[in-house]
Amino acid sequence: MQQPNKMTSEMENPPQSGAKIYLRLLSYVGASWGYLLLSFIGYALYSSMEPALAALLKHIVDVVSDGKITESRILIPAAILGVFIVRGIGTFLGGYFMAQVANKVVFDLRTSMFNKMVQMPSSYFHSIPTGRLLAKLTYNTEQVIGSITQAIRIILREGLTVVGLLGYMIYMNWKLTLLFLLVIPLIGIIVSYASKRFRRLSARIQNAMGGVTDVASEAIKGHEVVKIFGGSEYEIERFRQAAQENRRSQLKMEKTRSLNIPIVQFILAFAMAILIWFALSPTISQHMTPGDFIAFLTAAGMLGKPIRQLTDVNSVLQKGIAASQSIFEFLDMSVEPDDGKILAQSLKGDIEWKDMSFSYPNAEKQALKKITLSLPAGKTLALVGRSGSGKSTMANLIPRFYNLDEGELNIDGVSISDYQLDSLRTNIALVNQQVVLFNGTIRENIAYGHLRDASDDQVIEAAKAANAWGFIKELDQGLATMVGENGVLLSGGQRQRIAIARAILKNAPILILDEATSALDTESERAIQMALDGLMENRTTIAIAHRLSTIENADIIAVVDHGEIIEQGSHTELLAMNGAYAQLHNQQFSETAD
Ligand SMILES: Nc1ncnc2c1ncn2[C@@H]1O[C@H](COP(=O)(O)OP(=O)(O)OP(=O)(O)O)[C@@H](O)[C@H]1O
Ligand SMILES: [Mg+2]
Repeated sequence: MQQPNKMTSEMENPPQSGAKIYLRLLSYVGASWGYLLLSFIGYALYSSMEPALAALLKHIVDVVSDGKITESRILIPAAILGVFIVRGIGTFLGGYFMAQVANKVVFDLRTSMFNKMVQMPSSYFHSIPTGRLLAKLTYNTEQVIGSITQAIRIILREGLTVVGLLGYMIYMNWKLTLLFLLVIPLIGIIVSYASKRFRRLSARIQNAMGGVTDVASEAIKGHEVVKIFGGSEYEIERFRQAAQENRRSQLKMEKTRSLNIPIVQFILAFAMAILIWFALSPTISQHMTPGDFIAFLTAAGMLGKPIRQLTDVNSVLQKGIAASQSIFEFLDMSVEPDDGKILAQSLKGDIEWKDMSFSYPNAEKQALKKITLSLPAGKTLALVGRSGSGKSTMANLIPRFYNLDEGELNIDGVSISDYQLDSLRTNIALVNQQVVLFNGTIRENIAYGHLRDASDDQVIEAAKAANAWGFIKELDQGLATMVGENGVLLSGGQRQRIAIARAILKNAPILILDEATSALDTESERAIQMALDGLMENRTTIAIAHRLSTIENADIIAVVDHGEIIEQGSHTELLAMNGAYAQLHNQQFSETAD
């Protein structure tokens, strides 16, 4: 099991700079520039109404102090209503179209991440816990949405408001405005300090979040094991630690933010105090009416909120940058290498291993050592041997789930790495040791992927050959029965037969059966075996089995031990050799005789 905070391999990539990441994020935003423009117009409307409010106030004060109330009694209230109507329209346009932009960005990020994910090499899926991957797709992209909407909204709306208000203040009294502006750099310094801290914390929170989902998803998937082995306390503790780490980081982040706000506010108040002190000096404000004076101070006061929000935008932005950093790192990872140029069109299925060795990424020991073997087209190879000897590894190298280290693996005389990957795989049907079913109907599971357009008759025929039709037809919904996540609504043997039917339907020249009938009773196994025998006749088959009785008829039987082939030959030849195979055979034979 993974430690909650274990760094994953992608963390080792050199970190990109914040500006670079933000620019890249902006390129996603730029794709919906139309909505962005509408949103901009909305916010421009909104912010233009702020100085309008200050100007209205000036008007009211001047009217009252001049005693000319009557003419303005209708006009001023109407203007106030007008201002708020325009402001409301602005708020709606700005907010709605910004949400359009943000959701489009998240949609684009998610889909490109998923597209990437299905192309990742098998070794990647083994190197990263599922929860971490899912957190990237969900939590991290949500963080990006927050960054986009909030940050751009604040920058546009509050930024424009600041521009509008400052413009109005300069228009009223530029000297006073200049004084006010002298304080702004001070605010900038404090903000840049806080933002650095935020970015570090955000990255930590995301790691901690990944930890939370890792532990949870493992406990969910393994709930039966957790229960029967009394693992709940251990899992609870593990989850508590991950959640605790998350909580600590969140609190730290909040502390920095909460301190940031009052400090910025105080600086603003300080600026206001200085401003009023100067404003009260007769030389600066001699030409100002009481209305001018009030309106100026009001505008300066109204600057407080947008400036505060603009400084806070950094934390939002940094969160988003931290989230998109890990997304972009993921998007930049290299996918399964596919340099092969040769299109594998209907291969014959001549398979040849020459001194082939392989070790799993990050593994110390070689999983396969100097395998030399040749399997002529249409023949059957059975791999037998102890658990962990390397049989599944040998099978998984044929569809190139992993790349070879040394030696050759040729099909029809061409190295498998010279074939174009997709075309190679269309020639191979595989029944995994761990059956994989998708949450859909039985029909969808048999006719999966490229097979999706198969007719009902073809699907039924494949189900019959896999000895599955008997149980399928007794189900109320037949082929339309839902199988549940990974087929939990079916029995282990039923699942296996669905997987076999899928492989049969594929009708590929190379068939790999990795313990394909291990979950079946002897009778069902025999029935399938007969169907499979027919199926194997004109295709190259690699069958892996622990029950030797199922592979006795194989053309070649190879005994794998510690990653090496220690014996090969037909059943009778191997028995006559009286070596490892004979020993295995005698063991099983005496067991069944008991
Ligand atoms: N993804 C992996 N990463 C690293 N090592 C692996 C991986 N999968 C398998 N191994 C190692 O490779 C060796 C061979 O495993 P393999 O699955 O091929 O055995 P097997 O012969 O199919 O065993 P079984 O009969 O139990 O299915 C084992 O020692 C195993 O620990
Ligand atoms: Mg295996």
